[in-house]
Amino acid sequence: MFWRQPVTWYALMTTIIAPSLLAGNHAAFGKDAVRASKSGADWLHLDIMDGHFVPNISFGPQVVKAVRPLSKLFFDVHLMCSKPEILLEPFAGAGADEMIIHVELGERVEGLIWKIKKLNKKVGLAVNPPTPISLALPYLEKIDLLLVMTVNPGFGGQEFIHECLPKIQQAEAWRRANGWSYRISVDGGINHQTAAECARAGADTFVAGTSLFGARSLKAAVTKMRKVAAANDPAMADLKV
Ligand code: DX5
Ligand code: ZN
Repeated sequence: MFWRQPVTWYALMTTIIAPSLLAGNHAAFGKDAVRASKSGADWLHLDIMDGHFVPNISFGPQVVKAVRPLSKLFFDVHLMCSKPEILLEPFAGAGADEMIIHVELGERVEGLIWKIKKLNKKVGLAVNPPTPISLALPYLEKIDLLLVMTVNPGFGGQEFIHECLPKIQQAEAWRRANGWSYRISVDGGINHQTAAECARAGADTFVAGTSLFGARSLKAAVTKMRKVAAANDPAMADLKV
């Protein structure tokens, strides 16, 4: 019976494909947000870099606010910032649907999670490649999404770090063992091949900049990534048994 298969409940979690606007044309973000909307993607990933938490600067709430009316996609705002405290309200007001903060912020994480919840937004928690996944454990019950960084954050177009794959497996094992419901997202160097590897490890949410915006057809690239992810989803294989 379906409900007697403990591994399968989260198999109903659909695959999410989230193009990262960072790889779009910075002189035409609006146009690329519209392209993403028409591509069949589920979310738009927006990378916010403050030049301090990461050695690069991207864009701020005014850009998000300007793009918001052009797209109905879920806005997945990734705050690579040392002081998210001062940015949560501006990004919530600008139209973020989810805000992702980094576990490397240490003891401030708990308060930030509650602040995001109070703003009625989904909460994400990101873990950088050198950071042990165990640091995220105390928060997993409270969050909507765990973002496993598969490159060191700061720049698009970097190579996928394979050593991050066991973290995805661990996050998936914890989710299954505890009945938790956070999504497992991967971000950095995601293309059709690495998306397959991440899906096999348990990821269900795929952030990709260069490989999607750099493709000749964004729509075809999104469709293929969704297919590849589904074909490599071990939970779907369980359902077929
Ligand atoms: C990296 C960002 C990513 C970036 C991914 O610091 O968090 O979201 O846009 O870009 P690609 O897919 O090009 O590695
Ligand atoms: Zn990101």
